[in-house]
Amino acid sequence: MITAGTTFGSDVDDIDVLVDDPLAQLVRWLPADDGELRPLAALSTIGRDGIPSLRHVLVSDRDATGLFFHTDSASEKVAEIAANPVAALSVAWPEAGRQLVARGIVERVSTASAAEAYRRRSRYLQILAWLNTADNARLPADDRRHLWAEFDKTHPTLDPPERWAGFLLRPLTLTFWRGDPLGQSVRQHYTLTDGRWSGRILAG
Ligand SMILES: Cc1cc2nc3c(=O)[nH]c(=O)nc-3n(C[C@H](O)[C@H](O)[C@H](O)COP(=O)(O)O)c2cc1C
Repeated sequence: MITAGTTFGSDVDDIDVLVDDPLAQLVRWLPADDGELRPLAALSTIGRDGIPSLRHVLVSDRDATGLFFHTDSASEKVAEIAANPVAALSVAWPEAGRQLVARGIVERVSTASAAEAYRRRSRYLQILAWLNTADNARLPADDRRHLWAEFDKTHPTLDPPERWAGFLLRPLTLTFWRGDPLGQSVRQHYTLTDGRWSGRILAG
């Protein structure tokens, strides 16, 4: 016999209830998390060759406007966003039986807001933001580690490098997937039209 917890997910409440404000639900699904591996999302942008680009990034924060991530402004994703300011982002929690997919418009956040997120990053990630360049990547590993140790020693406190950039994904569609250990998985799919969200239930 299948019982709760023995298959995909343990979160079985509210699966049939469409909500008026899916962004509030998104905020509930993505709790504030100061851990180094805070929610990890697959982030898709449109490659400059027209093929989707995909990589994982940390979801730095979320609020009623959408999802925030931070990156290096010299990165490919930033060039792609500049050319096509749209993205899709997905987070999965298999153990809870949840997946969130957001698709929408991407905009850059203020320098002050990005700096605030930088301050919340671990020391490791703060140093990485400074040293994570293509030139450094081409050095032998020993040289990279030496550079890191020297930088760490000589920079007890750090402000963000100029390349540090924050982005907000403002969702136009939101899809909440819920596994049900006792039955079929289902999705709530929401679309924003003229400032109003409408939702429908889809097969999982
Ligand atoms: C666990 C994990 C967390 C990551 N977090 C970030 C992040 O928050 N920001 C970021 O720019 N890259 C992050 N990366 C690296 C990206 O996946 C990617 O390699 C990098 O951003 C370059 O991507 P691009 O060339 O497509 O722009 C992370 C990778 C992993 C595996």
